[in-house]
Amino acid sequence: MRSRESHAGPGLRWAQACQKWDSVRACFLLLALTGAILSGCRRAHAPVPAAPAPVRPADRIGLGKALFGTACIACHQPNGQGIPAVYPPLDGSEWINGPKERLIRIALYGLRGPIRVLGQDYSGVTDMPPFGPQGHYWSDASIACVLTYVRREWGNHASPITEAEVEQLRTRIGPRGEWTAEELRQAGRE
Ligand code: HEC
Repeated sequence: MRSRESHAGPGLRWAQACQKWDSVRACFLLLALTGAILSGCRRAHAPVPAAPAPVRPADRIGLGKALFGTACIACHQPNGQGIPAVYPPLDGSEWINGPKERLIRIALYGLRGPIRVLGQDYSGVTDMPPFGPQGHYWSDASIACVLTYVRREWGNHASPITEAEVEQLRTRIGPRGEWTAEELRQAGRE
């Protein structure tokens, strides 16, 4: 028959081992908890930016209308008729309904000098301001929205313009000043 001590011996060793194991586990738990709290804080302070959702064509018209109301309306007027001899019309304009690239060029870089719109000459008393990086610094998406809107509004029925089409042209052309109507005509023949 073994003595009590001989039973207590291994029992005590187990208890000690368990205690050690418990403290190791506690340490791990504590570490995991601290990590969770820290990452929670980081998330609370700096949210991971979500990729912007692509703008649907229907939204593009709505956004474009809002942008037109803040940026183009003062000169080209709510009905898109402009002001005789000063601001040319957008309603029915061949520059709006014509080639997409030519219109994107105008919005990105602006326009100066004489221009003929719907058979009327505008002598270029004021310039059309650039909305790209050399001007109002609009995003490609904003430019696509406003152009899609003006190509659909009033009596216009031209196809939408996408952000990618604006980006492509902007990166291809790079920084430059305002166009003249003549330069646009030549650019269209390239
Ligand atoms: C400060 C006044 C002004 C603002 C703001 C303005 N434009 Fe113009 N826009 C003009 C003028 C002036 C011309 C003619 C430039 C010239 O004579 O060379 C013009 C010409 C144009 C043309 C080519 C001619 C035509 O009538 O089709 C388009 C297209 C155009 N603007 C679109 C826009 C759009 C879209 C916006 C808003 C994002 C805008 N403009 C904002 C003054 C303005």
